[in-house]
Amino acid sequence: MLLTIDNLSKTFPGTVALDSVRFDLKAGEVHALLGENGAGKSTLIKCLTGVHARDSGDVRLHGEPVSPGSTLEAQELGIGTVYQEVNLLPNLTVAENLTFGRQPTRFGMVSVRRMREDAKEMLAGFGLDHVNVSRELGAYSVAVQQLIAIARAVALSGKVLILDEPTASLDARETEMLFEVVRRLRERGLGIVFISHFLDQVFDLSDRLTVLRNGKHIVTAETAGMDRLGLIHHMLGHELDKAEDRRTTRSIRNERLHFKGLGRRGKIEPFDLTVREGEVIGLAGLLGSGRTETADILFGRTPADRGEATDPDGTIDLSNPRAAIASGFGYAPEDRKTDGIIADLSIRENIALALQARRGWAKPIPRGEQRALADDYIRRLDIRTSDAEKAVGDLSGGNQQKVVLARWLAMNPRFLILDEPTRGIDVGAHAEILKLISGLTDRGMSILMISSEFDELIAASDRVIVLRDRRHVSELVGDEIETSRIIAAIAAHDAEGAAL
Ligand SMILES: Nc1ncnc2c1ncn2[C@@H]1O[C@H](COP(=O)(O)OP(=O)(O)OP(=O)(O)O)[C@@H](O)[C@H]1O
Ligand SMILES: [Mg+2]
Repeated sequence: MLLTIDNLSKTFPGTVALDSVRFDLKAGEVHALLGENGAGKSTLIKCLTGVHARDSGDVRLHGEPVSPGSTLEAQELGIGTVYQEVNLLPNLTVAENLTFGRQPTRFGMVSVRRMREDAKEMLAGFGLDHVNVSRELGAYSVAVQQLIAIARAVALSGKVLILDEPTASLDARETEMLFEVVRRLRERGLGIVFISHFLDQVFDLSDRLTVLRNGKHIVTAETAGMDRLGLIHHMLGHELDKAEDRRTTRSIRNERLHFKGLGRRGKIEPFDLTVREGEVIGLAGLLGSGRTETADILFGRTPADRGEATDPDGTIDLSNPRAAIASGFGYAPEDRKTDGIIADLSIRENIALALQARRGWAKPIPRGEQRALADDYIRRLDIRTSDAEKAVGDLSGGNQQKVVLARWLAMNPRFLILDEPTRGIDVGAHAEILKLISGLTDRGMSILMISSEFDELIAASDRVIVLRDRRHVSELVGDEIETSRIIAAIAAHDAEGAAL
């Protein structure tokens, strides 16, 4: 056995995160680690790599006890890790990020040229040829940053590679590219730990799987011998409510918002969009197709340099997010680390934050009211926490995502933009969030949802707009909303696209 973990326990104040967990990894296998948000997956990884000290337990590499005290020490043992949250440094260059801790030196000096060459080599095979390694990492999208983090970990992992939700921000093509790399490493005899909430990917890639629930080991089995429902049952401890079919198209409601010719040079071609009351509009497209750019324009994050936004009362000011919020717009962004949560504030404070900003800081929301708000959303979104005063940074990744969502729902906006709302959220909570979205629209909220998961778009949207090369190229309504049509629109040839 390449790696064995026995009796691993870890307690945080108020939470038993891991209770006598066992896990093992063979050379040349992909072992999926599964469980609901807060089950203990990331904690298990962090105890293994020395980010957290373990309370007790035995970890062996090739039969020898090891206890690295930090990620760097783990790397020296041949264990490379990509943590759930990208933890590279956005204001260093790509090359610096790829090589920090191991910069090539020449006569004792860091050789920038060698560093760049090494960095380029590390990126080869990840489809990142367009990345300029001399640019700041922060200039690239979350997905590209994620791939860069993976490339770094791959280069550093001689024996074990750990991927904690690596595909959460990747599109289908990038995911396939990553899987190619993982399969090659498996053939070379590496052991790979793969954490994901995408069950299709788990079945596609893994040889064995282990399920954790509430910090306890539930099962370890060959993936091929496990069926989907059985797996979900192990994860949740109960059956999943039957998923709803496609949302029934509702009667046409009032037109609420008109966006005409909105666009911005170099970001997104001008587009028209009409938003009706209680409608869910899905945005489909590959990464870089202009989905996030569309959202950024609609929320004033990168204001449009042409076009106009109106409602029945007149022109809407979308020159900055503050103005957009004042007009009843909300935006739950994709990158919760940089745009979303404030890790050292409590859950209560994080949820009340945007509401407070809108009311103005001079009129503080009474603590009792904040508390009631937080408790309500903790219940409705099933945020796993001992109480609302806990720091958000101490929640599991998926539960942090739910807090970001709660913050915007609490504002009760008339138009809410959700960028990948279920990214990193487990199967149970996933269904809950889609139900919640549907409930909100019944009360009149209009929603624009960006999602890379077609199933989710199809289930939730009244209308799907497909983007390609920074243009809105197609719009599907009602029964037209099906995977094959979305894919056809995404893949259509450019000349053809121009005709749409
Ligand atoms: N630094 C911390 N301080 C306090 N509690 C923590 C800390 N890190 C994790 N926890 C708690 O430990 C439990 C397990 O969290 P963990 O992050 O391991 O879950 P996870 O399985 O990775 O979930 P997800 O799928 O949401 O990423 C959760 O209850 C979480 O709130
Ligand atoms: Mg996690």
